[in-house]
Amino acid sequence: MYVFDAIDPLREYLFNLKQTDTTIAFVPTMGALHNGHESLIKYAQTLADEVIVSIFLNPIQFAPNEDLQCYPRPLHDDKHLCKNLDVSALFLPSEATIYPSNSLLTQVTVPTLSTLYCGQSRPNFFQGVTNVVIRLFNIIQPHYSVFGEKDYQQFVIIKTCVQNLFLPITVYSVPTIRDSNGLALSSRNNYLSDTEKNEASSIYQSLCLVKEAVSNGIHDSLSLNRLIKNNLSDSIAIDYIAYVDADTLLPSQTIKKGNRVLFAGTLNQTRLIDNLAI
Ligand code: PAF
Repeated sequence: MYVFDAIDPLREYLFNLKQTDTTIAFVPTMGALHNGHESLIKYAQTLADEVIVSIFLNPIQFAPNEDLQCYPRPLHDDKHLCKNLDVSALFLPSEATIYPSNSLLTQVTVPTLSTLYCGQSRPNFFQGVTNVVIRLFNIIQPHYSVFGEKDYQQFVIIKTCVQNLFLPITVYSVPTIRDSNGLALSSRNNYLSDTEKNEASSIYQSLCLVKEAVSNGIHDSLSLNRLIKNNLSDSIAIDYIAYVDADTLLPSQTIKKGNRVLFAGTLNQTRLIDNLAI
């Protein structure tokens, strides 16, 4: 596995691959890799000849009061996992490589979608995500890129950005990987005790009840929200519950099959998000 921390040698490597018509799939990550990332990498390997993974803990997508300082950084284990998975190349840029001085004079945002749902309580988050992802896309210029459905709003925003900017990249999403109790895998689960992980699994269980209720003919958000609240662990504070069109992310007027239910909450200061096709 090649490991690059600078742009020029990575580009030289990619240039040589492209000379031989090799296809490239790209999986951007912030590290602390788990089985969810593993499934993104494995899916990317089905799409392209070579898979590039980046690990970059993007500071501009964290607000000052968020967990940038304590975010897990098990770089040694991450490298090991990528090597074992036969990743072709790992890109480990520094902050100065991605954001040299004045580079944020140019910003890419999807303003309307970025202020909805998670954007309400994390106002700069999606702008931080689109800015780093577009920079990584420009550096790597992959044919394909793969994101997790767990961050469903992020996936739709990135897809929109790629479409609006005519980037020749096909963006795929991969279903959420879950613990045996249903808890969606996330690097932030590292902050939870075993008891809290069990409590957090009530999120997925509640979303499953919503799916079942909609298929049984319940279509109003009040009843569906009540169902979630009745089944959710008391230790979880709800940030939002939204029923949205799966393509546009706009709120559904009539909740129906094919929509998506999005959820965010906090458990003892750990932010947890999940979503499900209904
Ligand atoms: O989902 C993530 O891990 C991050 O938001 C991403 C897409 C790597 C951008 O920093």
